[in-house]
Order: sequence, then C-alpha cells, then structure tokens
Amino acid sequence: MLTDKVAIVTGASSGIGAALAQVLAREGATVVLAARRIDKLYELAQIIISAGGKAVVHPTDVTVKAEAEYLVHQTVEDLKRIDILVNNAGRGHFANVEDTTDEMIQSMFKLNVYSLWYTVRPALKQMKQQGSGHIINIASMAGKLGYPYNSAYVAAKHAVVGFTMALRQELLETGIHATVVCPAGVKTDWANVTEGGSMLPMFSESGPIIKKIAAERDIPLPQIEGVISSETVAERILECIRNPVAEVYTQKGAKEFVELATRSREEAERHMIPVVLGEREVYERLKKSG
Ligand SMILES: NC(=O)c1ccc[n+]([C@@H]2O[C@H](COP(=O)([O-])OP(=O)(O)OC[C@H]3O[C@@H](n4cnc5c(N)ncnc54)[C@H](OP(=O)(O)O)[C@@H]3O)[C@@H](O)[C@H]2O)c1
Repeated sequence: MLTDKVAIVTGASSGIGAALAQVLAREGATVVLAARRIDKLYELAQIIISAGGKAVVHPTDVTVKAEAEYLVHQTVEDLKRIDILVNNAGRGHFANVEDTTDEMIQSMFKLNVYSLWYTVRPALKQMKQQGSGHIINIASMAGKLGYPYNSAYVAAKHAVVGFTMALRQELLETGIHATVVCPAGVKTDWANVTEGGSMLPMFSESGPIIKKIAAERDIPLPQIEGVISSETVAERILECIRNPVAEVYTQKGAKEFVELATRSREEAERHMIPVVLGEREVYERLKKSG
C-alpha cells in the first residue's frame, strides 16, 4: 500500500511511534525515525530492516526548531519526498493546577504544540510541490476532555486538536490531508515518564476506589474501551491513511463520550465523578507521602 512512500515519525523510539513506524514499514514505506534516544532508534531500524523494511535514523529533539526543521529538510534532500508526517512525540506532567510550574507549562507546549509548526511548515512546502501528503498529529482524549493533575498537557493537547482543524481548512482541496488522533489509555511508557513524577501509581491504585464510589452512588462509568496496545493504535492509524478522516478515536466508545460532552459537559462530568474522586484520593495521599 505504501511502496515508494516516505514517512517521518517523531517519537519513534518507543510506544505508539515505534509501533506505527513498524506498521508503515511493513506496508512498504521508507520510514524516517526521529526522537532523542539514538540507541532505541537504531534498535528499531535494525528490527525493521531485518523484517525486509526500509528505515532511516534521524536523531532529533523536536523542541529545538533547527533540529525539527533539519529533520524535514534532510528527508527531502535524501529521499526526495514526504508522503506522511506523523507528529507523535509527546509527554504529560503530573501536578495539580497550583503545583504546575512555569517550566512544566513551557515544556508541555514546546513539546506537544510548538513542535507542530517546526515540522509542518517545511513539510508543507514539499507536500504542496507534490500535490499530496498526509499530516497526522497525535493528540489524546485529553485534547477533547478535561483530566485532573495534567492541566498543561490537557491544554496543550486541546491545542493540537485546534491546530489540526485550522490546518485542515487551509488544506481544503489541495490534495493534502490532516488528521488528529485521540487515543485514550495506551500501554506505553507515557504514564511513567510524566514530568513531576510517574502517574502510574495514581492510575493503578485508584481502580478499586473508583469502582466502590460508582457502586455507592449508582453512577455509570464512561463506556470507553480500556487500555490498548500501541500495535492496535498503529493499525487504527493505518486505516486513516487508507481512508483519510478528520479525527481518529482509537478506543471504542471514545467518540460517543466526546459527543456526549459536546452536548452537555455537566452530563459527561457526572459520569466521571467516581474517576475524579478516586484519583483525587490517591493524588492527595501520594502528595502527602512526598
Ligand atoms: N500512552 C497513552 O496512554 C497516550 C494516550 C493518548 C495520547 N498519547 C500520546 O501519544 C504520543 C506517543 O506517546 P506514547 O504513549 O507512545 O509514549 P512514549 O512511549 O513515552 O513515547 C513518547 C515518544 O516521544 C518522544 N519524545 C519525547 N520528547 C521528545 C523530544 N523533545 N523530541 C523528540 N522526541 C521526543 C520519546 O522519545 P525520546 O525520549 O527518545 O526523545 C518517545 O519516543 C504522545 O504524543 C502522547 O501524548 C499517549
């Protein structure tokens, strides 16, 4: 399906990016692997090449404008085209609003938002010459809904959705597509590498409390599919390369819950009460214990 196509994937050193790079290479694309951990990129390139695919390693910190731009320019120089650009590099943080530092806010926006312009601006120049291309930005359900203890990430991922929707308007009838992907929980390093400490204990310890509160208050929890693998996310992203759409929800029930929140924030928040109270209990405990 992607023979002779060139795809750049940022954040390719782990999780969703690594899985997607393998899927794109399996489909015949030459995949440019970008991230900061060079050893992980070479390991992945080796796996792809051993499986008969084509991969190029390009160490890049996407928060550094010159590096992100160089990633795109060098790809055009070496491979002569860009068919798919996946802006996947991203990270969250773990702090309530009062404890969110200016550094965290800056870091969340530099990585999750500013980097979009750094790669998309030069990529569009090439895609417009080709008259084709697909820009895929990985946002999150946090780009559609509010989640506690991650406000700067939530705000940044809302910006990713907004950026993509504005871009779609500019690209109307140009032959270039733009898609935003909104995963819910995916089994990757994400929750463990949040700035300000790991979010994993909050997620793992709040489960039984959430169930108890939901039962006591007789509140139905949101019917969103649970944690899925990065390989499943990658296959769902591939579907949108086959049939370009504006938004991809990788979990069953996610789109419906966002639609409910669009109709009534209060109604959606009511379903979230057990989750929020359960997580609050664990967050306060974790904070006290330092
Ligand atoms: N996992 C989830 O539950 C979930 C849910 C919704 C959305 N997402 C989003 O999905 C995307 C991928 O995350 P993941 O779950 O696969 O987590 P992950 O395994 O932690 O992957 C994050 C990737 O981003 C890269 N990265 C971080 N900072 C970077 C920088 N400055 N420059 C270049 N690359 C950078 C990391 O590589 P290096 O450290 O090597 O640079 C890594 O490859 C993120 O945008 C995340 O917000 C994840």
